[in-house]
Amino acid sequence: MSVTKRNDAGAAPSVSLTDLFDEKSGTISPAIYADPQLYELELERVFSRSWLFIAHETHIPKAGDYLATYMAEDPVIAVRQKDGGVKVFLNQCRHRGMKICRTDGGNAKAFTCTYHGWAYDIGGNLVQVPLEQQSFACLDKKQWGARQARVDSYKGLIFATWNMDAPTLSDYLGDAKSYLDLILDRSEGGTEAIGGIVKWVIPCNWKFAAEQFCSDMYHGATSHMSPMMAASPDTLPGDPTDFSGRQFRASRGGHGTGFFVEGAEWLWRVGQAGEHVSGFDIAAAEQRTNLHRSGKRPVGFSQHMTVFPNFSIFAGANTARVWHPRGPGEIEVWAFGLVDKAASDAEKEQMRLMTLRTFSAAGTWEQDDGENWVEVQRVLRGHEARRTLFNAQMGAGAPRGEDPTFPETITNAFAEEAARGFYAHWQKLMTDVDGSFSKAGSYADAAE
Ligand code: FES
Ligand SMILES: [Fe+2]
Repeated sequence: MSVTKRNDAGAAPSVSLTDLFDEKSGTISPAIYADPQLYELELERVFSRSWLFIAHETHIPKAGDYLATYMAEDPVIAVRQKDGGVKVFLNQCRHRGMKICRTDGGNAKAFTCTYHGWAYDIGGNLVQVPLEQQSFACLDKKQWGARQARVDSYKGLIFATWNMDAPTLSDYLGDAKSYLDLILDRSEGGTEAIGGIVKWVIPCNWKFAAEQFCSDMYHGATSHMSPMMAASPDTLPGDPTDFSGRQFRASRGGHGTGFFVEGAEWLWRVGQAGEHVSGFDIAAAEQRTNLHRSGKRPVGFSQHMTVFPNFSIFAGANTARVWHPRGPGEIEVWAFGLVDKAASDAEKEQMRLMTLRTFSAAGTWEQDDGENWVEVQRVLRGHEARRTLFNAQMGAGAPRGEDPTFPETITNAFAEEAARGFYAHWQKLMTDVDGSFSKAGSYADAAE
């Protein structure tokens, strides 16, 4: 496939997929955010071959509990089964394609299509067909169940994939697991989802959001300075760009994270959380955190993370979200609060309010991010703008693996190392014609 081609002046007509990102020079062609043909290819080669986030276990705790969600543009239903497992199947009737389920979630014994009445059980099996005897000569209902995805979970997070040859979810997450654990496994019992799922639309490409949460701590002190100042103590305890941090690029898979390890606690505990909820026990929260910092499992502060391709968490603001793609220039954000199960009710309430204030449809920090992505996307309406390369060189060549507490990180949170890993993996998938790169076997030699 040909889209544009770079030249020394930094512009480029007619390009191949291998030119869209260049790791060596740290450059990105903006066509990847705006081209409809590339987007169609992403649906096939990125989203249908990767593990995609579906729900938190606590969204659907009981048998029959279900959540209607999406795997990229494909509507799916995730349902808790009687044996405790979860099934994820296409929300598309096998008769003539109507949605099987038209509500957002709840508890069901069956799903009945509202077009002609075909009914499916909670496992997605076709169990009832109106006028079956009179109107169908020989319908083998077993052959016409809803299309099933493969399902797996990691520490409370349920994922699914259409790729039956994909590695296990554990292998897919690879060395990113220990950084997910900083968020998911901080205390006994793990995490739970709180509040509802807040959904809104942003007119921007999904990669702006996913890559930023993967890699970009750099924008904080510029983009978010006003809410930082507004919600912080009168006297800032230091230069907000002068924190000790780390950035991690997964050796395989496009996942990435970054966080501060000291100096920034006030950002979320004092500045954003405060003591606005009566009974909020900041001493207990601090003690729990300190236990982990001094014990086996350290905690990073203000940790942003993306599990490739489109699931992100921002620990500290306690938000988790999926960036559902809707064409090359639009996303639906589905966000929910993520807290330690072991936290007190007052702490959970404090976290819920903090998440609403910072990262939600009306959150102050969220507005800052969305404005950047929308504006960049608007600029890309321009013909010349779409031919002018972006710079992703920050932190190139920085030594990795020097901190034994945080393996495989570089010791600077302000870098684009994880972004380069994100695009390197994206490009490997996009250029993989037969899908062999995303099969389990190819995960044996991990690094990319
Ligand atoms: S489309 Fe579902 S029953 Fe006909
Ligand atoms: Fe941000």
